[in-house]
Amino acid sequence: MLAPAFFLRPFEENDAPQIEALHELAFGPGRFARTAFRLREGVEPDPDLSLVAMFGDRFGGSVTMTPMRIGDDSALLLGPLAVHPDFGKRGAGRGLVRATLEAARLAGHRLVLLVGDEPYYGPLGFRRVDPARVWLPGPVDTRRVLLAELEPGAFETANGLAKNWHWG
Ligand SMILES: CC(C)(COP(=O)(O)OP(=O)(O)OC[C@H]1O[C@@H](n2cnc3c(N)ncnc32)[C@H](O)[C@@H]1OP(=O)(O)O)[C@@H](O)C(=O)NCCC(=O)NCCS
Repeated sequence: MLAPAFFLRPFEENDAPQIEALHELAFGPGRFARTAFRLREGVEPDPDLSLVAMFGDRFGGSVTMTPMRIGDDSALLLGPLAVHPDFGKRGAGRGLVRATLEAARLAGHRLVLLVGDEPYYGPLGFRRVDPARVWLPGPVDTRRVLLAELEPGAFETANGLAKNWHWG
């Protein structure tokens, strides 16, 4: 069997500059104005759910999960997810998503929200949510608000404003 092209490992503090540079490349300066950014603003990502994809000794991509709330319930916000274009289309993006979802499930989390493309995230377990049931605190294309349940039935119970963890 061939060795995998990449491996995943936990985030380490000294990954931060490379992750920031990749986010600048992938999302540009407009990322700070996005509604998803407001949901994460000032909240530490969960270090146990933040992963890095390595291609040999080269940093190739990363994902983070940040605590948030939907109504009164706790949830996680997935993202940013980014893979460097040098290493695209080799499965790292999907691998990062699957691994962080599994780690979150094992840690007892029930729901994960993200703002992203359904064609990419649908096969990974995410689906659209009725915007009358779960809504965000700013402008967003509601077709891109996606939820994954980590416990059967969690999707049906999600209800209310998606909020930054510190908003209470
Ligand atoms: C999106 C991204 C994370 C994908 O990473 P990746 O490691 O190339 O992804 P994978 O190798 O797991 O999957 C690649 C497949 O997903 C498809 N894909 C990539 N982005 C997609 C999108 N937005 N919508 C639908 N399909 C997409 C690719 O065409 C490819 O399809 P194929 O397998 O049929 O060739 C990466 O391209 C990226 O960082 N993009 C910029 C930032 C971004 O958009 N992040 C997601 C926020 S919503």
